[in-house]
Amino acid sequence: MRALLEVENLRKYYPIFGGLFKKKVADVKAVDGINLTIFKGECFGLVGESGCGKTTFGKTVIRLLKPTDGHIYFDVPPNIREKMRELELDGSPTALRELERLRKEYDLATYKGKKLRKLRRKMQIVYQDPTTSLNPRMLVKDIVGEPLKVHKLARGGEVIEKVVKMLQRVGLSEKHLYRYPHEFSGGQRQRIAIARALITNPDFIVLDEPTSAVDVSVRSQLLDLFISLQKEYGLTYLFISHDLSVIECISNRVGVMYLGKIVELAPTKELFDEPAHPYTKALISAIPVPDPNVKRKKILLSGDVPSPINPPKGCRFYPRCWKARDICRVEEPKLVRTKGNHFVACHFPED
Ligand SMILES: Nc1ncnc2c1ncn2[C@@H]1O[C@H](COP(=O)(O)OP(=O)(O)OP(=O)(O)O)[C@@H](O)[C@H]1O
Ligand SMILES: [Mg+2]
Repeated sequence: MRALLEVENLRKYYPIFGGLFKKKVADVKAVDGINLTIFKGECFGLVGESGCGKTTFGKTVIRLLKPTDGHIYFDVPPNIREKMRELELDGSPTALRELERLRKEYDLATYKGKKLRKLRRKMQIVYQDPTTSLNPRMLVKDIVGEPLKVHKLARGGEVIEKVVKMLQRVGLSEKHLYRYPHEFSGGQRQRIAIARALITNPDFIVLDEPTSAVDVSVRSQLLDLFISLQKEYGLTYLFISHDLSVIECISNRVGVMYLGKIVELAPTKELFDEPAHPYTKALISAIPVPDPNVKRKKILLSGDVPSPINPPKGCRFYPRCWKARDICRVEEPKLVRTKGNHFVACHFPED
């Protein structure tokens, strides 16, 4: 499996300004040190409660936001990444200079201007709510065709031709070209957003809660569409959701996020069968069971998610954790391998 996206030590802080002179008074630590690899062709699911930093992470990795710290590598040839790791281990001044040079070329965190605009073609995003993400004053033909013009991928009649093809592929048709977003249902609007994201032929798509704003019946149709588009175009997804049943159905691997950090990372089946982090266990226990005869013990988490401005020292989950002991208050657990491809950041993981 080849890495498509590698994230090293990624941080995104939002500064808060206050006082008489509007000086920076604090930071919202939305993403606070994430290391993650997403492989070509996989669907990586990212779950976590509201406010834990999922959207910020998704927008930062495709550089809609500038990271505060860390590195982002996208589709870098494996031999170059290998070389970078060697240089980092070497650590000599010459090696570090060479590493710096390679980072300027390959690290998305350093990109700006033209380089960044070129990247947009390859990395796209579909948002939760197409009512706000689609321009209400634009016709469907322009909404979907605009990226083709911006990136100079088609001209004149070619644009419409490509737009029609893409509309058909996502389950709409030529007759929709001259309509406005408000003339469509929520599910159809999301299809327009998908067509717009796909028209530049990207490799990587962030799907940020793409089925949260639609009815349950439409949800499964959209999920089927994502799965078939992924196969057809060889896409790699970062699928963000707080709905674990959706994540279970579509992802190959899952990362569980809590207060700006990944606390557990595992292949989907393993994560659901054998959650190792108490937080993951609690989330899974809260999934509604369709069969009334099956009873699952629900773990109720006490309290709210603490503020990302002043996250708890030690393990960020300890104030809500029923297993917390002294060490959890002082020492932050690292994300370590438990077995195979299962990683967890907890001092007392489940067996
Ligand atoms: N532009 C911003 N300025 C300041 N703080 C922000 C900004 N955007 C997000 N935040 C804060 O950063 C934290 C993470 O927000 P984010 O939207 O990434 O979370 P999320 O996991 O996507 O939540 P949700 O499930 O509600 O979409 C939150 O505390 C949020 O209030
Ligand atoms: Mg969000």
